[in-house]
Amino acid sequence: MSNIVLLHSFCFSTQQFNAWSPPWEKDIVTYCQENNIQVTGYYTYGGAQSKDQALSKELLGKIAESHGKSSAQVLLRHSLQKGVAVIPGTASPNHMADNLNVFDFELSEQEMETIDKFGEADDAVMKPPEWLGD
Ligand SMILES: NC(=O)c1ccc[n+]([C@@H]2O[C@H](COP(=O)([O-])OP(=O)(O)OC[C@H]3O[C@@H](n4cnc5c(N)ncnc54)[C@H](OP(=O)(O)O)[C@@H]3O)[C@@H](O)[C@H]2O)c1
Repeated sequence: MSNIVLLHSFCFSTQQFNAWSPPWEKDIVTYCQENNIQVTGYYTYGGAQSKDQALSKELLGKIAESHGKSSAQVLLRHSLQKGVAVIPGTASPNHMADNLNVFDFELSEQEMETIDKFGEADDAVMKPPEWLGD
């Protein structure tokens, strides 16, 4: 019997990705996914500076409540359902446990679309730096 060894090559890209991502960030994710490049997204909550504003968004809270989850868990789930791997940073064991507990619920298509539009709102908490342009 012959042994067949399959060699796989892996490609990864790491970039900021969250519900407030501007179109050009989403375009990079689309490009990567169309070319078999796995995207890892950091700043799912916008990092320490923006997380309070991000996690206190009322509409996000309502979606979270309907699933019995926290706003943070919904944002993680949103990225995962987009096929983006997440690496939330936390120093809290409770938050670590919460961040792992995101595989027992699913956001509907409508909820995903609602979250996708967070960046378009006038009160968008995360905007790309001006020097990046549109
Ligand atoms: N490759 C790169 O260029 C790059 C750039 C930036 C960041 N990163 C990496 O990406 C990872 C994530 O970035 P980040 O930590 O700056 O941003 P983040 O994950 O968006 O936000 C982290 C903040 O959210 C809080 N948090 C985490 N889990 C939470 C939860 N379940 N509920 C409520 N709050 C929660 C944390 O506070 P607590 O400690 O209180 O939970 C912390 O202040 C880090 O490992 C970082 O090193 C990589």
